[in-house]
Order: sequence, then C-alpha cells, then structure tokens
Amino acid sequence: MNNHLVTPYARNVTPAPVPGLPADFRWGVATAAYQIEGAAAEDGRTPSIWDTYCRTPGMVVRGENGDTACDHYHRMPDDVQLISDLSVDTYRFSLAWPRIQPGGRGPANPKGLDFYKRLLDELETRAITPWITLYHWDLPQDLEDAGGWPARDTAHRFAEYAALAYDALGDRVKHWTTLNEPWCSAMLGYAYGAQAPGRKDFGDAMSAVHHLLLGHGLASQYLRETAAAKNQDLELGITLNLGTATPETDSREDAEACRRADGLGSRIYLDPITKGAYPADIVADLALRNIELPVQDGDLEVISTPLDVLGVNFYRGTLFSGVTEEGSPLDADGLPVTRGVERDLPRTAMDWEITPTALTDLLLRLQQDYGLPTVITENGAAFDDEVTPDGEIHDADRTTYLADHIAAVADARAQGADVRGYFAWSLLDNFEWSYGYDKRFGIVRVDYETQERTLKDSAKWYRDTIRLTRDN
Ligand code: FCB
Repeated sequence: MNNHLVTPYARNVTPAPVPGLPADFRWGVATAAYQIEGAAAEDGRTPSIWDTYCRTPGMVVRGENGDTACDHYHRMPDDVQLISDLSVDTYRFSLAWPRIQPGGRGPANPKGLDFYKRLLDELETRAITPWITLYHWDLPQDLEDAGGWPARDTAHRFAEYAALAYDALGDRVKHWTTLNEPWCSAMLGYAYGAQAPGRKDFGDAMSAVHHLLLGHGLASQYLRETAAAKNQDLELGITLNLGTATPETDSREDAEACRRADGLGSRIYLDPITKGAYPADIVADLALRNIELPVQDGDLEVISTPLDVLGVNFYRGTLFSGVTEEGSPLDADGLPVTRGVERDLPRTAMDWEITPTALTDLLLRLQQDYGLPTVITENGAAFDDEVTPDGEIHDADRTTYLADHIAAVADARAQGADVRGYFAWSLLDNFEWSYGYDKRFGIVRVDYETQERTLKDSAKWYRDTIRLTRDN
C-alpha cells in the first residue's frame, strides 16, 4: 500500500495494444551514469559534483552516495540482457564525463571509453539502439572548482568533452542528446541548493542557464559538422524537463504566475534553442531584479543550431497561484508570488501529483509552439514497493501510471503531435539524487544488499504492451 496516495489510483491494467501507436514507435528504458554505475573511483574516473555533494553532511538522505549504486559498471552485460528481455528497442543512458575526460580537461581516458564501447557491443549483439546523453549532471568537480556552470569556460569544456565522446563513439551511435534537464542543473544546483553543487544564488543560476545552453550549442555544432564530414547518420537533441502551468483562478495574478513559471521553467530553454532568442518577458522580469543573462555576440546563433528531436521528460503538471496563502501578490522578498497549489489528486511516493492529461496538453502545446518531433525520454513514478513472500512486486500503481501516460501520448498523437517514442524512467531502482536509495523508480527492482534484479509487475506489463502494440 502506498500511503502517499490521497485518493486511490491503481486500477487492474492488463497488457493490450495501445491504439494509435504505430509499429515503428520507439520504445525504451532510460538510466543515467551516476545513478547506476557505481565504480566511482575505478579506471581513472575522477569525482564529479555529485561525489562531493553526497559527502556534504545533510545533503542526501542518510548520507548515501553513488559509490556502488546498482554496480552496473560490473554487471553491464547482464543488465543489457535484462533490457533485451523487456523487448524495448532503445536504451537511453548517459556517459560519465569524469570517466571519459577525468578532471574535465585534457585527452580522453581510454579505459573510460572502453566501458561504453563494451556497452555498445552488448547492445549491438541484441539489436538494441543506443541513445546517448552526454551530460546527466555529473560535472567533473575540478570544473566546479574553476567556477562551474556560472562560468563561461565550462561551456567550452563541455564542447571539448562532447567532441572526445563523439570522435570515439559517433561512428556507432546515431542518437545523441547534449544535456539532460538543464533547468535542474541551473536551478536546483545553483539557485535552490537542492542538488549538486548545492549553491544558492539566483544570479549565478541564470548565468548557468546561459552557459549550459551555450555548451549545448557548441557541442551541437561540433556533432553536426563532424557527422556531415564523416558522413555519419546523426539524430541530435536535447532533453528538457517540461510540465504544464495551469492557473488556479482566472485572476490576473494567477495568469502572471503561470507566465513566469512557464517562462523560467520552459521557454527560457525552448525559445533560444528553437528561435534564437530569449523570451522578452522573462528578460524584462530579470532586469527588474538587476539580472542580465551573460549573452555575448553570436551566442544565440550557436545555441539555435538546428535539432532533429526534442527529448521531453515529463512527471507532472502544476496548478499555480500568483498570491500567497494570505492573498498577497508579493512574497517576503518583495518578489511576485509563483506558488504551486496542491490538488486533491493521487500522488507518487515523491509526493508528485499524478496528472496524465497534462502530458497530452504539453505535447500539443510543444507541437504548436515549437514544431519539433518529440520523444518522451523519461516518464515514470516512484512508489513504496513491497516484495511478497514469494518475491513478487505487484506494483499496480506504477503500472497504472505508465498505462495512463502512454495513453496520454497516444492521445496527443491522435490530435496531431509528432511524438515518436516513449522511454520509461527507469530500467532499475537507482540512486535518486538527494533522495538517495529511498525512492524506487525502477520497473526492475534492485536489492541493494545482493544486487539481485527482479522484474516488477510493471516491467512485465510494459514488455507485453510493447510486444502487443508492435504486432498489432
Ligand atoms: C529526472 C532526472 C532523472 C530522475 C528522475 C526521477 O529529473 O532526469 O535522473 O532522477 O527525474
């Protein structure tokens, strides 16, 4: 039983073909390096900001860290077999920057690259398409010590690392994602201190936004030029965490709160990437706070290097109010209020509201405003799983969550959104950042004592749904 649910959610969902999803719809599972690999000090890997953050008292639940995680570094062939057993066609994973380029400078580390080459071998043997994310939050600590993402040089360092990775693996991998969720890197990392490196300076966070995007653009340029020169097939994208912002009432304040939430959460990334300009309303809001994005001549051209696909990580939509609970439009710092309002909806173990129709709304809005093909690069849910005495995990809540969100994707397609794939987050229970190992997002359970993997009911449902939909 999940005691986070305020209203019941799980239904009895049985596998069936998903109407409207074509045979070539891409099905995948997703992971990230630091969350699963372990082997933190092996084969030349240097610490990332997450290794440091985990060792800072009070930052991660129970002081846990990714030193061992799912021990995927040593169990990789078995894990790829597991992926294959799930019948997915695509595996989204990230490369660990501090493995491939220890310290974030200098030449590639052959041993770091070897791990990913072996992973590509295993995937190839089982006809699973690799989908690489270059940066899923593990900035080499040495680069944070030199200023981190608020420093412009980090964008150049990222482009250099991307070049090393693409030079080594680009002949074998078509699908490349530059960044995972730059909002989290910038805001949780530098404004709220809720993720590594744990800094709290809003101005620095805004500089980080621009330098993350610049790094994305510089890397994109390099990948595009190199793919063309070498005649390599490339599908290039970025993954953003996107949601929906719904006003609580039809007041002007609530509309403004939604504008700000959408502006700082979504448009500040989507607009420069696809249109080569930051949203004017957000630039004006920042100016009122004496903050200017550190844009230099030519940056926006680099940042708007054309992409082939937009990766969408979706977990929930949010209801917003533009006033405090007491009704004031300004907060204690004198800033306009942008307040998420709780609804009486079922929730996951993260306390996140379950809002599948918001995914349909989001995909239609992205289609209309930005027009890029999309792939859901992450969607899934943590629940407090229970293992039955005979070792089964009847995670009906998670299965229902997946079914409802896949149906939402099919709905969006039926209404004209060009959504081409869906990747479940996550293959395995893993290191859920500041929540440590407490929150289980896997469709496969990991027993952290033994490292044993067990398919949850949701994994079996996902596997059968994929098979039935493909054969339909
Ligand atoms: C996303 C992250 C991913 C995972 C999920 C639950 O923000 O990209 O690594 O933590 O949330």
